[in-house]
Amino acid sequence: MTNHRTVVILAAGEGKRMKSSLPKVLHPLLGRTLLGHVLDAAEQAAGQAAGQAAGADQHPLVVVGHGADQVRAHLAEIAPAAQAVVQAEQRGTGHAVRVALEAAPEATGTVVVLNGDIPLLRAHTVRTLVESHEAAGAVATLLTAEVADPTGLGRIVRAADGGVERIVEERDAGPAERAIREINVGAYVFEAAALRAALGKLSTDNDQGEEYLTDVIALLVAEGQRVAALRAGDPTEALGCNDRAELAALRALLRDRVNLEWMRAGVTMLDPATTWVDVTVTLGRDAVIEPNTQLRGATAVGEGAVVGPDTTLIDVRVGERATVVRTHATGAEIGPHAQVGPFAYLRAGSVLRREAKVGTFVETKAAEIGEGAKVPHLSYVGDATIGEHTNIGAATVFVNYDGVRKHRTTIGSHARTGADNMFVAPVEVGDGAYTAAGSVIVKDVPPGALGVSRGQQRNIEGWVERKRPGTAAAEAARRAADQAAEQAADDDGE
Ligand code: UD1
Ligand code: CA
Repeated sequence: MTNHRTVVILAAGEGKRMKSSLPKVLHPLLGRTLLGHVLDAAEQAAGQAAGQAAGADQHPLVVVGHGADQVRAHLAEIAPAAQAVVQAEQRGTGHAVRVALEAAPEATGTVVVLNGDIPLLRAHTVRTLVESHEAAGAVATLLTAEVADPTGLGRIVRAADGGVERIVEERDAGPAERAIREINVGAYVFEAAALRAALGKLSTDNDQGEEYLTDVIALLVAEGQRVAALRAGDPTEALGCNDRAELAALRALLRDRVNLEWMRAGVTMLDPATTWVDVTVTLGRDAVIEPNTQLRGATAVGEGAVVGPDTTLIDVRVGERATVVRTHATGAEIGPHAQVGPFAYLRAGSVLRREAKVGTFVETKAAEIGEGAKVPHLSYVGDATIGEHTNIGAATVFVNYDGVRKHRTTIGSHARTGADNMFVAPVEVGDGAYTAAGSVIVKDVPPGALGVSRGQQRNIEGWVERKRPGTAAAEAARRAADQAAEQAADDDGE
Protein backbone atom coordinates (compact mmCIF):
# COMPACT_ATOMS: atom_id res chain seq x y z
CA MET A 1 0.00 0.00 0.00
CA THR A 2 1.30 3.44 -0.76
CA ASN A 3 0.57 6.51 1.27
CA HIS A 4 -0.81 9.54 -0.40
CA ARG A 5 1.69 12.35 -0.05
CA THR A 6 1.38 16.06 -0.73
CA VAL A 7 4.27 18.50 -0.83
CA VAL A 8 3.69 22.15 0.08
CA ILE A 9 6.45 24.70 -0.55
CA LEU A 10 6.19 28.16 1.00
CA ALA A 11 7.35 30.84 -1.40
CA ALA A 12 5.06 33.83 -0.93
CA GLY A 13 7.38 35.98 1.18
CA GLU A 14 9.06 39.07 -0.19
CA GLY A 15 12.49 38.66 1.32
CA LYS A 16 12.79 42.35 2.19
CA ARG A 17 16.41 42.11 3.23
CA MET A 18 17.43 40.92 -0.25
CA LYS A 19 16.61 44.50 -1.43
CA SER A 20 15.70 43.16 -4.83
CA SER A 21 13.05 43.51 -7.51
CA LEU A 22 13.30 39.74 -7.86
CA PRO A 23 11.33 37.70 -5.30
CA LYS A 24 13.78 36.06 -2.91
CA VAL A 25 13.02 32.49 -3.95
CA LEU A 26 13.95 33.32 -7.57
CA HIS A 27 17.53 34.29 -6.79
CA PRO A 28 19.95 31.92 -8.49
CA LEU A 29 22.36 29.62 -6.69
CA LEU A 30 24.69 27.48 -8.83
CA GLY A 31 22.29 26.56 -11.58
CA ARG A 32 18.91 26.68 -9.88
CA THR A 33 16.85 29.26 -8.09
CA LEU A 34 16.40 28.88 -4.34
CA LEU A 35 12.91 27.58 -5.07
CA GLY A 36 14.28 25.27 -7.76
CA HIS A 37 16.62 23.64 -5.25
CA VAL A 38 13.82 23.05 -2.75
CA LEU A 39 11.50 21.68 -5.46
CA ASP A 40 14.25 19.42 -6.70
CA ALA A 41 14.90 18.04 -3.20
CA ALA A 42 11.15 17.37 -2.77
CA GLU A 43 10.85 15.76 -6.19
CA GLN A 44 13.92 13.57 -5.77
CA ALA A 45 12.77 12.52 -2.32
CA ALA A 46 9.43 11.44 -3.79
CA GLY A 47 11.20 9.49 -6.50
CA GLN A 48 13.43 7.74 -3.98
CA ALA A 49 10.79 7.05 -1.33
CA ALA A 50 10.38 3.38 -0.47
CA GLY A 51 7.22 1.74 -1.77
CA GLN A 52 6.54 4.73 -3.94
CA ALA A 53 6.56 4.52 -7.70
CA ALA A 54 8.94 7.09 -9.14
CA GLY A 55 7.05 10.16 -10.14
CA ALA A 56 4.14 9.53 -7.78
CA ASP A 57 2.58 12.63 -6.23
CA GLN A 58 4.26 14.89 -8.76
CA HIS A 59 2.00 17.68 -7.83
CA PRO A 60 3.68 19.96 -5.33
CA LEU A 61 1.66 22.93 -4.12
CA VAL A 62 3.71 26.12 -4.18
CA VAL A 63 2.35 29.03 -2.18
CA VAL A 64 3.04 32.26 -4.07
CA GLY A 65 2.35 35.88 -3.18
CA HIS A 66 5.08 38.49 -3.61
CA GLY A 67 6.02 38.59 -7.29
CA ALA A 68 3.43 35.86 -7.91
CA ASP A 69 3.52 36.31 -11.69
CA GLN A 70 7.30 35.97 -11.82
CA VAL A 71 7.25 32.91 -9.57
CA ARG A 72 4.43 31.34 -11.57
CA ALA A 73 6.30 31.90 -14.84
CA HIS A 74 9.38 30.30 -13.33
CA LEU A 75 7.35 27.31 -12.14
CA ALA A 76 5.89 26.84 -15.61
CA GLU A 77 9.45 26.58 -16.87
CA ILE A 78 11.05 24.35 -14.26
CA ALA A 79 8.16 22.37 -12.74
CA PRO A 80 5.07 22.45 -14.95
CA ALA A 81 3.38 19.84 -12.73
CA ALA A 82 3.53 22.15 -9.71
CA GLN A 83 0.36 23.97 -8.73
CA ALA A 84 0.73 27.59 -7.65
CA VAL A 85 -1.62 28.65 -4.85
CA VAL A 86 -1.94 32.37 -4.25
CA GLN A 87 -1.64 33.73 -0.73
CA ALA A 88 -2.78 37.27 -1.41
CA GLU A 89 -1.61 38.65 1.93
CA GLN A 90 1.39 37.22 3.72
CA ARG A 91 -0.16 36.50 7.10
CA GLY A 92 2.41 33.97 8.22
CA THR A 93 3.69 30.50 7.47
CA GLY A 94 0.70 28.84 9.17
CA HIS A 95 -1.68 30.92 7.09
CA ALA A 96 0.29 29.98 3.95
CA VAL A 97 -0.13 26.25 4.62
CA ARG A 98 -3.82 26.77 5.43
CA VAL A 99 -4.34 28.52 2.07
CA ALA A 100 -2.51 25.69 0.28
CA LEU A 101 -4.58 22.94 1.90
CA GLU A 102 -7.83 24.82 1.25
CA ALA A 103 -6.90 24.72 -2.43
CA ALA A 104 -6.31 20.96 -2.20
CA PRO A 105 -9.27 19.46 -0.31
CA GLU A 106 -8.35 16.05 -1.73
CA ALA A 107 -5.00 16.05 0.09
CA THR A 108 -5.04 13.32 2.72
CA GLY A 109 -2.32 11.17 4.24
CA THR A 110 1.11 12.75 4.55
CA VAL A 111 1.78 16.45 4.01
CA VAL A 112 5.40 17.57 3.58
CA VAL A 113 5.93 21.30 4.20
CA LEU A 114 9.18 22.96 3.13
CA ASN A 115 10.17 26.60 3.45
CA GLY A 116 11.17 27.90 0.02
CA ASP A 117 14.36 29.52 1.27
CA ILE A 118 16.39 26.54 2.50
CA PRO A 119 18.16 25.47 -0.71
CA LEU A 120 20.88 23.34 0.88
CA LEU A 121 18.36 20.83 2.22
CA ARG A 122 19.20 17.43 0.73
CA ALA A 123 16.67 15.13 -0.95
CA HIS A 124 18.02 12.30 1.18
CA THR A 125 17.16 14.22 4.35
CA VAL A 126 13.62 14.94 3.14
CA ARG A 127 13.15 11.28 2.38
CA THR A 128 14.48 10.20 5.77
CA LEU A 129 12.14 12.70 7.43
CA VAL A 130 9.12 11.28 5.58
CA GLU A 131 10.08 7.67 6.22
CA SER A 132 10.76 8.15 9.92
CA HIS A 133 7.48 10.04 10.26
CA GLU A 134 5.47 7.30 8.60
CA ALA A 135 7.32 4.51 10.42
CA ALA A 136 6.73 6.16 13.82
CA GLY A 137 3.07 6.86 13.10
CA ALA A 138 3.56 10.44 14.29
CA VAL A 139 1.11 13.26 13.47
CA ALA A 140 4.01 15.65 13.03
CA THR A 141 7.76 15.23 12.51
CA LEU A 142 10.01 18.22 12.22
CA LEU A 143 13.59 18.61 11.14
CA THR A 144 15.88 20.30 13.64
CA ALA A 145 19.58 21.19 13.61
CA GLU A 146 22.14 22.07 16.22
CA VAL A 147 23.83 25.27 15.01
CA ALA A 148 26.63 27.47 16.33
CA ASP A 149 24.68 30.67 15.77
CA PRO A 150 20.89 30.35 16.08
CA THR A 151 20.23 34.08 15.63
CA GLY A 152 16.86 34.82 14.02
CA LEU A 153 15.64 31.23 13.99
CA GLY A 154 12.91 29.36 15.84
CA ARG A 155 14.24 27.46 18.88
CA ILE A 156 13.19 23.92 19.78
CA VAL A 157 11.92 23.74 23.36
CA ARG A 158 12.09 20.20 24.68
CA ALA A 159 10.30 18.70 27.71
CA ALA A 160 12.08 16.96 30.59
CA ASP A 161 11.64 13.61 28.82
CA GLY A 162 13.44 14.98 25.74
CA GLY A 163 10.32 15.17 23.58
CA VAL A 164 9.58 18.32 21.56
CA GLU A 165 7.24 20.63 23.44
CA ARG A 166 7.02 23.66 21.19
CA ILE A 167 8.91 25.98 18.86
CA VAL A 168 9.49 29.54 19.96
CA GLU A 169 10.45 32.25 17.48
CA GLU A 170 13.43 34.35 18.50
CA ARG A 171 11.41 37.55 18.79
CA ASP A 172 8.98 35.84 21.18
CA ALA A 173 11.66 34.01 23.18
CA GLY A 174 13.00 34.78 26.65
CA PRO A 175 16.73 34.75 27.45
CA ALA A 176 16.79 31.06 28.46
CA GLU A 177 15.05 30.04 25.23
CA ARG A 178 17.35 32.22 23.16
CA ALA A 179 20.29 30.28 24.56
CA ILE A 180 18.95 27.09 22.91
CA ARG A 181 21.02 26.12 19.89
CA GLU A 182 18.70 23.49 18.47
CA ILE A 183 16.68 25.27 15.81
CA ASN A 184 13.72 24.68 13.52
CA VAL A 185 14.95 24.08 9.96
CA GLY A 186 11.63 24.82 8.24
CA ALA A 187 10.97 21.26 6.96
CA TYR A 188 8.09 19.30 8.42
CA VAL A 189 5.93 16.25 7.79
CA PHE A 190 2.34 16.13 9.05
CA GLU A 191 -0.67 13.87 9.03
CA ALA A 192 -3.12 15.85 6.90
CA ALA A 193 -6.23 15.74 9.08
CA ALA A 194 -4.38 16.64 12.28
CA LEU A 195 -2.60 19.49 10.46
CA ARG A 196 -5.85 20.89 9.06
CA ALA A 197 -7.46 20.79 12.51
CA ALA A 198 -4.51 22.50 14.21
CA LEU A 199 -4.21 25.20 11.50
CA GLY A 200 -7.80 26.14 12.26
CA LYS A 201 -6.84 26.91 15.84
CA LEU A 202 -3.79 29.14 15.24
CA SER A 203 -3.79 32.51 16.93
CA THR A 204 -1.93 35.63 15.87
CA ASP A 205 -0.89 36.34 19.42
CA ASN A 206 2.82 36.91 18.76
CA ASP A 207 5.28 39.70 18.07
CA GLN A 208 4.52 39.78 14.32
CA GLY A 209 0.74 39.23 14.59
CA GLU A 210 1.03 36.32 12.15
CA GLU A 211 -0.28 32.76 12.03
CA TYR A 212 2.84 30.71 12.73
CA LEU A 213 3.08 27.21 11.34
CA THR A 214 5.48 26.53 14.19
CA ASP A 215 2.63 26.94 16.72
CA VAL A 216 0.99 23.82 15.27
CA ILE A 217 3.58 21.77 17.19
CA ALA A 218 2.52 23.00 20.65
CA LEU A 219 -1.17 22.58 19.74
CA LEU A 220 -0.64 18.94 18.76
CA VAL A 221 1.51 18.22 21.83
CA ALA A 222 -1.20 19.74 24.09
CA GLU A 223 -3.71 17.32 22.57
CA GLY A 224 -1.44 14.46 23.52
CA GLN A 225 -0.65 13.65 19.87
CA ARG A 226 2.62 12.09 18.85
CA VAL A 227 5.16 14.73 17.65
CA ALA A 228 8.61 13.56 16.59
CA ALA A 229 11.81 15.36 15.62
CA LEU A 230 14.71 14.38 13.42
CA ARG A 231 18.05 16.09 13.88
CA ALA A 232 19.91 16.89 10.62
CA GLY A 233 23.37 15.30 10.57
CA ASP A 234 24.76 18.22 8.58
CA PRO A 235 23.67 21.57 10.07
CA THR A 236 24.55 23.43 6.83
CA GLU A 237 21.36 21.93 5.38
CA ALA A 238 19.43 24.20 7.71
CA LEU A 239 20.92 27.43 6.45
CA GLY A 240 18.34 29.87 5.20
CA CYS A 241 18.91 32.84 2.99
CA ASN A 242 17.67 36.23 4.09
CA ASP A 243 20.13 38.65 2.49
CA ARG A 244 22.81 38.69 -0.21
CA ALA A 245 25.62 38.02 2.22
CA GLU A 246 23.89 34.82 3.32
CA LEU A 247 23.26 33.98 -0.33
CA ALA A 248 27.00 34.26 -1.00
CA ALA A 249 27.77 32.06 2.01
CA LEU A 250 25.30 29.42 0.77
CA ARG A 251 26.84 29.57 -2.68
CA ALA A 252 30.30 28.88 -1.28
CA LEU A 253 28.99 25.95 0.77
CA LEU A 254 27.16 24.46 -2.20
CA ARG A 255 30.26 24.95 -4.37
CA ASP A 256 32.30 22.93 -1.87
CA ARG A 257 29.63 20.24 -1.73
CA VAL A 258 29.43 19.95 -5.54
CA ASN A 259 33.22 20.01 -5.99
CA LEU A 260 33.78 17.35 -3.34
CA GLU A 261 31.37 15.04 -5.16
CA TRP A 262 33.10 15.52 -8.49
CA MET A 263 36.57 15.06 -7.05
CA ARG A 264 35.39 11.83 -5.43
CA ALA A 265 34.04 10.81 -8.84
CA GLY A 266 37.48 11.18 -10.42
CA VAL A 267 37.72 14.80 -11.53
CA THR A 268 40.88 16.83 -10.81
CA MET A 269 40.30 20.38 -9.57
CA LEU A 270 43.44 22.45 -9.16
CA ASP A 271 41.75 25.10 -7.08
CA PRO A 272 38.30 24.05 -5.85
CA ALA A 273 37.84 27.39 -4.11
CA THR A 274 37.75 29.20 -7.47
CA THR A 275 35.91 26.47 -9.38
CA TRP A 276 32.15 27.05 -9.65
CA VAL A 277 30.16 24.16 -11.06
CA ASP A 278 26.37 24.39 -11.36
CA VAL A 279 24.44 21.45 -9.93
CA THR A 280 23.16 20.81 -13.47
CA VAL A 281 26.63 20.22 -14.97
CA THR A 282 28.22 16.82 -15.58
CA LEU A 283 31.97 16.06 -15.63
CA GLY A 284 33.72 12.95 -16.97
CA ARG A 285 36.42 10.97 -15.22
CA ASP A 286 39.94 12.38 -15.36
CA ALA A 287 38.67 15.74 -16.49
CA VAL A 288 40.95 18.50 -15.20
CA ILE A 289 39.43 21.81 -14.13
CA GLU A 290 42.00 24.58 -13.80
CA PRO A 291 41.59 27.58 -11.45
CA ASN A 292 39.03 30.34 -11.94
CA THR A 293 36.60 28.33 -13.99
CA GLN A 294 32.80 28.56 -14.07
CA LEU A 295 30.80 25.70 -15.59
CA ARG A 296 27.16 26.55 -15.92
CA GLY A 297 23.77 25.33 -17.09
CA ALA A 298 23.69 22.23 -19.27
CA THR A 299 27.47 22.08 -19.64
CA ALA A 300 28.94 18.58 -19.94
CA VAL A 301 32.68 17.96 -19.90
CA GLY A 302 33.96 14.68 -21.37
CA GLU A 303 36.55 12.28 -19.98
CA GLY A 304 40.08 13.59 -19.75
CA ALA A 305 39.21 17.05 -21.06
CA VAL A 306 41.16 20.01 -19.64
CA VAL A 307 39.18 23.18 -18.97
CA GLY A 308 40.60 26.49 -17.74
CA PRO A 309 42.16 28.44 -16.25
CA ASP A 310 39.96 31.55 -16.41
CA THR A 311 37.18 29.96 -18.41
CA THR A 312 33.38 30.28 -18.39
CA LEU A 313 31.30 27.67 -20.18
CA ILE A 314 27.51 28.06 -20.33
CA ASP A 315 25.53 25.21 -21.93
CA VAL A 316 28.64 23.86 -23.62
CA ARG A 317 29.48 20.27 -24.48
CA VAL A 318 33.17 19.49 -24.31
CA GLY A 319 34.29 16.21 -25.91
CA GLU A 320 36.78 13.82 -24.39
CA ARG A 321 40.38 15.00 -24.17
CA ALA A 322 39.58 18.42 -25.61
CA THR A 323 41.43 21.42 -24.13
CA VAL A 324 39.73 24.74 -23.48
CA VAL A 325 42.00 27.50 -22.19
CA ARG A 326 41.01 31.04 -21.11
CA THR A 327 37.76 30.90 -23.02
CA HIS A 328 34.22 32.26 -22.76
CA ALA A 329 31.71 30.00 -24.49
CA THR A 330 27.96 29.72 -24.59
CA GLY A 331 25.74 27.27 -26.44
CA ALA A 332 28.70 25.60 -28.15
CA GLU A 333 29.81 22.07 -28.89
CA ILE A 334 33.51 21.29 -28.68
CA GLY A 335 34.43 17.95 -30.20
CA PRO A 336 36.78 15.28 -28.84
CA HIS A 337 40.47 16.25 -28.86
CA ALA A 338 39.61 19.76 -30.07
CA GLN A 339 41.66 22.75 -28.88
CA VAL A 340 40.19 26.10 -27.90
CA GLY A 341 41.95 29.29 -26.78
CA PRO A 342 43.72 30.89 -25.16
CA PHE A 343 41.37 33.91 -25.41
CA ALA A 344 38.59 32.47 -27.53
CA TYR A 345 34.92 33.45 -27.56
CA LEU A 346 32.51 30.78 -28.79
CA ARG A 347 28.94 31.93 -29.22
CA ALA A 348 25.68 30.06 -29.79
CA GLY A 349 25.73 27.48 -32.55
CA SER A 350 29.49 27.07 -32.66
CA VAL A 351 30.30 23.45 -33.40
CA LEU A 352 33.88 22.22 -33.43
CA ARG A 353 34.30 18.73 -34.82
CA ARG A 354 36.91 16.27 -33.62
CA GLU A 355 40.46 17.68 -33.39
CA ALA A 356 39.36 21.08 -34.66
CA LYS A 357 41.16 24.16 -33.36
CA VAL A 358 39.94 27.65 -32.53
CA GLY A 359 42.92 29.63 -31.31
CA THR A 360 43.87 32.96 -29.87
CA PHE A 361 41.55 35.97 -30.16
CA VAL A 362 39.03 34.14 -32.28
CA GLU A 363 35.26 34.66 -32.08
CA THR A 364 32.83 32.17 -33.60
CA LYS A 365 29.04 32.17 -33.99
CA ALA A 366 26.74 29.70 -35.77
CA ALA A 367 29.85 28.19 -37.28
CA GLU A 368 30.82 24.61 -37.94
CA ILE A 369 34.55 23.98 -37.87
CA GLY A 370 35.18 20.60 -39.51
CA GLU A 371 37.24 17.73 -38.23
CA GLY A 372 40.89 18.73 -37.89
CA ALA A 373 40.20 22.21 -39.32
CA LYS A 374 41.99 25.19 -37.76
CA VAL A 375 41.23 28.84 -37.16
CA PRO A 376 44.38 29.65 -35.21
CA HIS A 377 44.59 33.44 -34.84
CA LEU A 378 42.70 36.74 -34.60
CA SER A 379 39.58 35.94 -36.60
CA TYR A 380 35.78 36.28 -36.64
CA VAL A 381 33.89 33.27 -37.97
CA GLY A 382 30.15 33.97 -38.14
CA ASP A 383 27.54 31.94 -40.05
CA ALA A 384 30.06 29.66 -41.68
CA THR A 385 30.79 26.08 -42.51
CA ILE A 386 34.45 25.11 -42.70
CA GLY A 387 35.29 21.68 -44.11
CA GLU A 388 37.61 19.12 -42.59
CA HIS A 389 41.36 19.78 -42.38
CA THR A 390 41.03 23.28 -43.78
CA ASN A 391 43.28 26.03 -42.42
CA ILE A 392 42.03 29.59 -42.09
CA GLY A 393 44.74 32.28 -42.25
CA ALA A 394 45.30 34.71 -39.40
CA ALA A 395 43.13 37.81 -39.11
CA THR A 396 40.28 36.56 -41.28
CA VAL A 397 36.76 37.94 -41.11
CA PHE A 398 33.69 36.09 -42.28
CA VAL A 399 31.66 39.11 -43.36
CA ASN A 400 28.20 37.75 -42.62
CA TYR A 401 26.07 40.86 -42.22
CA ASP A 402 25.00 43.20 -45.01
CA GLY A 403 23.35 45.57 -42.56
CA VAL A 404 19.98 43.92 -42.98
CA ARG A 405 20.42 40.17 -43.20
CA LYS A 406 22.96 37.51 -42.25
CA HIS A 407 24.46 35.27 -44.93
CA ARG A 408 26.55 32.09 -44.83
CA THR A 409 30.00 31.30 -46.10
CA THR A 410 31.00 27.76 -46.98
CA ILE A 411 34.61 26.66 -47.24
CA GLY A 412 35.37 23.14 -48.45
CA SER A 413 37.77 20.57 -47.06
CA HIS A 414 41.60 20.77 -47.20
CA ALA A 415 41.43 24.43 -48.25
CA ARG A 416 44.19 26.91 -47.34
CA THR A 417 42.98 30.45 -47.04
CA GLY A 418 45.51 33.27 -46.77
CA ALA A 419 46.00 35.65 -43.89
CA ASP A 420 43.82 38.75 -43.68
CA ASN A 421 41.00 37.53 -45.89
CA MET A 422 37.46 38.87 -45.97
CA PHE A 423 34.84 36.33 -47.01
CA VAL A 424 31.88 38.45 -48.05
CA ALA A 425 28.86 36.16 -47.66
CA PRO A 426 27.13 34.52 -49.33
CA VAL A 427 30.23 32.99 -50.87
CA GLU A 428 31.72 29.54 -51.37
CA VAL A 429 35.31 28.32 -51.52
CA GLY A 430 35.69 24.82 -52.97
CA ASP A 431 37.59 21.78 -51.69
CA GLY A 432 41.35 22.09 -51.88
CA ALA A 433 41.19 25.75 -52.96
CA TYR A 434 43.66 28.45 -51.86
CA THR A 435 43.14 32.15 -51.40
CA ALA A 436 45.90 34.77 -51.40
CA ALA A 437 46.78 36.80 -48.33
CA GLY A 438 44.90 40.09 -48.06
CA SER A 439 42.14 39.05 -50.43
CA VAL A 440 38.55 40.22 -50.26
CA ILE A 441 36.65 37.21 -51.54
CA VAL A 442 33.29 38.26 -52.99
CA LYS A 443 32.96 35.59 -55.68
CA ASP A 444 33.00 31.81 -55.33
CA VAL A 445 36.42 30.14 -55.62
CA PRO A 446 36.15 26.80 -57.48
CA PRO A 447 37.78 23.65 -56.03
CA GLY A 448 41.53 23.66 -56.47
CA ALA A 449 41.69 27.31 -57.68
CA LEU A 450 43.68 30.16 -56.14
CA GLY A 451 41.44 33.11 -55.37
CA VAL A 452 43.28 36.44 -55.48
CA SER A 453 41.72 39.84 -55.13
CA ARG A 454 44.01 42.69 -54.27
CA GLY A 455 45.76 45.64 -55.96
CA GLN A 456 49.20 45.16 -57.55
CA GLN A 457 51.99 46.53 -55.36
CA ARG A 458 54.08 49.41 -56.72
CA ASN A 459 57.09 51.04 -54.97
CA ILE A 460 57.81 54.76 -55.51
CA GLU A 461 61.60 55.07 -55.04
CA GLY A 462 62.93 57.90 -52.84
CA TRP A 463 59.44 59.05 -51.81
CA VAL A 464 60.25 59.46 -48.08
CA GLU A 465 63.37 61.61 -48.57
CA ARG A 466 61.49 63.84 -51.01
CA LYS A 467 58.20 64.13 -49.18
CA ARG A 468 59.25 63.77 -45.53
CA PRO A 469 62.65 65.40 -45.37
CA GLY A 470 64.25 65.79 -41.94
CA THR A 471 62.21 63.00 -40.34
CA ALA A 472 63.78 60.03 -38.54
CA ALA A 473 62.43 57.85 -41.36
CA ALA A 474 64.19 60.02 -43.95
CA GLU A 475 67.45 59.81 -41.94
CA ALA A 476 67.16 56.02 -41.73
CA ALA A 477 66.50 55.84 -45.46
CA ARG A 478 69.56 58.08 -46.12
CA ARG A 479 71.81 55.80 -43.99
CA ALA A 480 70.51 52.68 -45.72
CA ALA A 481 71.18 54.26 -49.13
CA ASP A 482 74.73 55.30 -48.06
CA GLN A 483 75.49 51.81 -46.71
CA ALA A 484 74.22 50.23 -49.92
CA ALA A 485 76.47 52.59 -51.98
CA GLU A 486 79.54 51.77 -49.82
CA GLN A 487 78.84 48.06 -50.06
CA ALA A 488 78.57 48.36 -53.83
CA ALA A 489 81.95 50.26 -53.99
CA ASP A 490 83.65 47.58 -51.82
CA ASP A 491 82.21 44.80 -53.92
CA ASP A 492 83.62 46.54 -57.05
CA GLY A 493 87.08 46.94 -55.42
CA GLU A 494 87.50 43.23 -54.69
C1 UD1 B 1 10.77 30.35 9.74
C2 UD1 B 1 10.25 29.62 10.99
C3 UD1 B 1 11.42 29.46 11.98
C4 UD1 B 1 12.54 28.71 11.31
C5 UD1 B 1 12.96 29.39 10.01
C6 UD1 B 1 13.95 28.53 9.27
C7 UD1 B 1 7.93 30.31 11.27
C8 UD1 B 1 6.97 31.15 12.03
N1 UD1 B 1 9.19 30.41 11.59
O1 UD1 B 1 11.18 31.64 10.13
O2 UD1 B 1 10.96 28.75 13.13
O3 UD1 B 1 13.65 28.62 12.21
O4 UD1 B 1 11.82 29.61 9.16
O5 UD1 B 1 14.49 29.19 8.17
O6 UD1 B 1 7.51 29.56 10.42
N2 UD1 B 1 6.12 32.50 3.69
C9 UD1 B 1 4.93 32.45 2.99
N3 UD1 B 1 3.87 33.17 3.45
C10 UD1 B 1 3.93 33.91 4.58
C11 UD1 B 1 5.16 33.95 5.28
C12 UD1 B 1 6.22 33.23 4.82
O7 UD1 B 1 4.82 31.78 1.97
O8 UD1 B 1 2.93 34.53 4.92
C13 UD1 B 1 7.27 31.72 3.19
C14 UD1 B 1 8.49 32.56 2.87
O9 UD1 B 1 8.50 32.93 1.50
C15 UD1 B 1 9.65 31.64 3.20
C16 UD1 B 1 9.08 30.70 4.25
O10 UD1 B 1 7.67 30.83 4.20
O11 UD1 B 1 10.04 30.87 2.08
C17 UD1 B 1 9.57 31.07 5.66
O12 UD1 B 1 9.18 32.37 5.96
P1 UD1 B 1 10.18 33.41 6.64
O13 UD1 B 1 9.46 34.70 6.81
O14 UD1 B 1 11.46 33.42 5.94
O15 UD1 B 1 10.31 32.72 8.09
P2 UD1 B 1 11.52 32.84 9.11
O16 UD1 B 1 11.40 34.11 9.85
O17 UD1 B 1 12.78 32.57 8.40
CA1 CA C 1 13.58 32.58 6.33
